[in-house]
Amino acid sequence: MRPRRLIVGITGASGAVYGVRLLERARALGVETHLVATPAGILNVHHELGLSRNELEALATQAHAPGEVGACIASGSFTTDAMVIAPCTMKTLAAVAHGMGDNLLTRAADVTLKERRRLVLMVRETPFNLAHLRNMVSVTEMGGIIFPPLPAFYHRPKSIDELVNDTVERVLALVHIEHAQPQQWQGL
Ligand SMILES: Cc1cc2nc3c(=O)[nH]c(=O)nc-3n(C[C@H](O)[C@H](O)[C@H](O)COP(=O)(O)O)c2cc1C
Repeated sequence: MRPRRLIVGITGASGAVYGVRLLERARALGVETHLVATPAGILNVHHELGLSRNELEALATQAHAPGEVGACIASGSFTTDAMVIAPCTMKTLAAVAHGMGDNLLTRAADVTLKERRRLVLMVRETPFNLAHLRNMVSVTEMGGIIFPPLPAFYHRPKSIDELVNDTVERVLALVHIEHAQPQQWQGL
């Protein structure tokens, strides 16, 4: 059996830590990752976390440039289990909602949907305008999952790290990564 294979897209929304933590955790769980980060994504990873492009790319099994539209993940014949865009801008959300594969990230998302594989968009903006909301509906109608990184406080988190980890763990469980361990509510 081949290892689980996950495509990770990082775009220029706030919350670069989600993409980085996802890559770290996937590696720890033995998941093969294919990373595509947009230029704005690279900018935000540096701005919010102080990580360079090389440091980011080193966290993935394989990193692809957004202009590399001939990369393996641009084709449905390359089997993957799921794709997560973490974080996902309103611009990339709009591109996915309209089937616009204008770069490798949006092409890979389009392929993920056409192959009926799991696509999770960790959308980040506030507040939302009507275009954002309509685009989220479109992606949901196509089978994608809109997963804004909204933390839950009922586990009484002690740090931001804990909040981020729990969100990432929930996403990993959602894309059926074995041994992902989101906290479970046991009742009051
Ligand atoms: C510091 C910073 C924070 C940003 N945060 C967001 C955000 O939370 N959500 C969003 O949709 N766009 C955000 N943007 C704007 C996007 O980066 C911009 O629209 C960009 O063109 C998106 O391109 P991409 O989807 O190809 O990464 C932010 C930009 C900067 C510089």
